[in-house]
Amino acid sequence: MSNNAKRAVKIFDTTLRDGEQSPGCSMNIQEKLEVARRLEKLGVDVMEAGFPASSPGDLESVKTIAGIVKDCTVAGLCRSLEKDIDAGRESLAGAADPRIHIFLATSPIHMEYKLKMTPDRVLEQAVNSIKYARKFCSNIEFSAEDAFRSDPDFVCKVFGAVIAAGATTVNFPDTVGYAMPDEFGARIRYIKEHTPGIEKAYLSVHCHNDLGLAVANSLAAIENGADQAECTINGIGERAGNASLEEIVMALRVRRDYLNADTRIDATQIYAASRLVTQVTGVKVQPNKAIVGENAFAHEAGIHQHGVMVNRETYEIMTPESIGIPKNRMVLGKHSGRHAFEDRLKDLGYTVSAETLETVFAEFKTLADKKKVVSDRDIEALVMGASAAVPETYKLDHWAVNTGSSLGATGIIKLQHKDGVSRKEVAVGDGPVDAIFTAINEILGKKPELELYEIGAVTGGSTSQGETMVKIALNGRHWNGRGVSTDVLESSIKAYLSAINAMEWDLAAGAAKSPLREPLNESGV
Ligand code: KIV
Ligand code: ZN
Repeated sequence: MSNNAKRAVKIFDTTLRDGEQSPGCSMNIQEKLEVARRLEKLGVDVMEAGFPASSPGDLESVKTIAGIVKDCTVAGLCRSLEKDIDAGRESLAGAADPRIHIFLATSPIHMEYKLKMTPDRVLEQAVNSIKYARKFCSNIEFSAEDAFRSDPDFVCKVFGAVIAAGATTVNFPDTVGYAMPDEFGARIRYIKEHTPGIEKAYLSVHCHNDLGLAVANSLAAIENGADQAECTINGIGERAGNASLEEIVMALRVRRDYLNADTRIDATQIYAASRLVTQVTGVKVQPNKAIVGENAFAHEAGIHQHGVMVNRETYEIMTPESIGIPKNRMVLGKHSGRHAFEDRLKDLGYTVSAETLETVFAEFKTLADKKKVVSDRDIEALVMGASAAVPETYKLDHWAVNTGSSLGATGIIKLQHKDGVSRKEVAVGDGPVDAIFTAINEILGKKPELELYEIGAVTGGSTSQGETMVKIALNGRHWNGRGVSTDVLESSIKAYLSAINAMEWDLAAGAAKSPLREPLNESGV
């Protein structure tokens, strides 16, 4: 808590579960681990690492995350079924502070059509599952799925019964993002006032953003006594997403005077966490997104620029530094040594392994040769996600492209396979990127579909590094890749190869990404 007088609100991050399960946001295990480390650094109270029973890949990744995270609670989501709770137990066995998170729907529409269960059966199943989980875990959360569209008195009854059975947190989700802020706040107050034994448990909220109100609803709930807010980095999640962590945290921090509550989040880690999630999911945030959008701190209009120059507070209610946006300082050059580089990385909030440092330092030297002066943003672009990179099956040896306004494009590429064998291919294409990607596909003997190709500049100016994001798909599975280089074609090739390497690694390891999850039946019948 940055101010002792304020009420402490817990941040439950579900980027790796609700976020990751949404279309286009799947992550491989390396990426999940990198995000988990970032969340720990950010200071979340609870991180939901996945849904262990949903696929063997999920179970493995929850297990791996549980084994490395020490400074926060790690939760695994389970339906209210013994087989799910067993999977949760197995995956969280190595966690320093495990939490079993059990959910069961309580709204009339879910109970009748999805669960095909009476309210009494739902109550009984909820209580039995808590009692079962309680035998081996003392930290248990129960979520009444679609709580907002449920009969409030029924929710109070279910919450009271699960608390009596041993639940330590009860969560009230607006699963379909239907609530209005005043209404949601009033409902939370009602639940707090009418649930027997609520003083023995934390009351949590979990808001979806279908009407763009997830953050407003979460804040209204906090004002009315909620102890925990469930949210995701960049607001990723099912459909229109979940409440965005950075918006909740900064609203509480900037308006502590009004909301009288705060979190233990280290806000200076927000920007790096947001960039990492963008990079590993390939899902960019809109430029005008609050807190982490490209324009969130940009002052284009002359009158605003003038005001900010005279006194920042004329148009700024928080500073870019407060969320850890690196000042775009020109910091290092080609004579800078490894120590200066490592120190700069530390100042920017990155701690990397010796191996990653080696790779990133070599890339920095190449960049410094080309650019003369390297900025914080450049360094950040090099290091971002480097630890999430999978071992390379294919390494870029060299490439060349011949193109022009009246010519077709021809690409030549030479790749080195990890077994040491090099192969060269030439291909023509509809433009240089198509030509070079086709040549890569020839070497692979596979033709993944290019679902997304996006290129942007890391800094301003024509010497800026180009940053490319790609998404590829093969047989219903998806992989992301990112590349940076002062040459935009090289950044495209690097991005494509990083996605290809992620694909090859996944296919070799048989590690499943979320699209292979089976549709799940919640009632277990
Ligand atoms: O939206 C929802 O209801 C959920 C629950 C599983 C907590 O994600
Ligand atoms: Zn949800």
